[in-house]
Amino acid sequence: MHLPQHLPVGLPKAELHLHIEGTLEPELAFALAARNGVTLPYADTTALREAYEFSDLQSFLDLYYGLMAVLRTAEDFTELADAYLEKAAAQGVRHAEIFFDPQAHTARGVPIGTVIEGLGAALDRSEERYGISTRLIMCFLRDESAESAMATLEAAKPYLHRITGVGLDSAEVGHPPAKFREVYEEAARLGLRRVAHAGEEGPAEYVREALDVLGVERIDHGLRCMEDPELVGRLARERVPLTLCPLSNVRLRVIDTLADHPLRAMLAAGLLVTVNSDDPAYFGGYAGDNFDAVEAALALEPEQLRALARNSFEASFLEDDEPRRARYLAEVEAYDFGA
Ligand code: ADE
Ligand code: ZN
Repeated sequence: MHLPQHLPVGLPKAELHLHIEGTLEPELAFALAARNGVTLPYADTTALREAYEFSDLQSFLDLYYGLMAVLRTAEDFTELADAYLEKAAAQGVRHAEIFFDPQAHTARGVPIGTVIEGLGAALDRSEERYGISTRLIMCFLRDESAESAMATLEAAKPYLHRITGVGLDSAEVGHPPAKFREVYEEAARLGLRRVAHAGEEGPAEYVREALDVLGVERIDHGLRCMEDPELVGRLARERVPLTLCPLSNVRLRVIDTLADHPLRAMLAAGLLVTVNSDDPAYFGGYAGDNFDAVEAALALEPEQLRALARNSFEASFLEDDEPRRARYLAEVEAYDFGA
């Protein structure tokens, strides 16, 4: 693999906020639809891409959950993950902590074991094929009930050897973190790491609640913490990582343009921020593309890009393999941005 050695796309990085279902490109969606006898409500890949005009998070989620109808067999999930890993490798990703949404599949009659074993088959050979180490994070849909989340955790118990942690995603506003207190307590008892989406569309208070009630170690997005200086101080002091997704924020209208992104202000505030792709097939770019986009829109210096890459490995769940983290961090320090 020959990566450009002076661009942020080649900078070694960890991807910490990536929904595997959000990597389903239109071409693969149509191929799987044909294979599985699923009829999609779009004439072709062009028509599907043209539907990627989102007004908010919910308008995206409606399409995202709808397109998942094509994912039916373990092989489908393996192909999905392989396609992502190949693209990620070409964008400097060395380690990926991958989200999946089991309830979006079990609700359609696809067993959780099919999803996990399918993804697992791709992840098992990821290092050898793509040079990417991986972890799997199981997300609960916050617009479903706490009972459904608990049942999902229960159903995942035979597969816990494949799962590093739990997360919380889907429609944020009106579904505060505290709704999932007991589920997260059980996840902690099972030895799982904990993260949650908070402060994407929802208020800064949801970030505080995710920390205090759910005991999360990382906040996904967390953008709206910037409305609460006391919270910013706490996040910086406690070195709580925030997994930002700049292209996603523009496409879901959390901000108007990339130039409005608070990434620079967040770095200046001493926050441990990282740059990620969220749902790259829908939002116009993978991890390296997000680095490229913020470099251009915010005029970031090479050393700021290096700090973002360093943060990504520091924030990753590599406590079970510190020598590997140290190797990745050394790769970041050695990276030459050129003139
Ligand atoms: N599921 C997939 N992408 C998401 C996002 N950006 N926010 C909440 N839930 C999601
Ligand atoms: Zn997300």
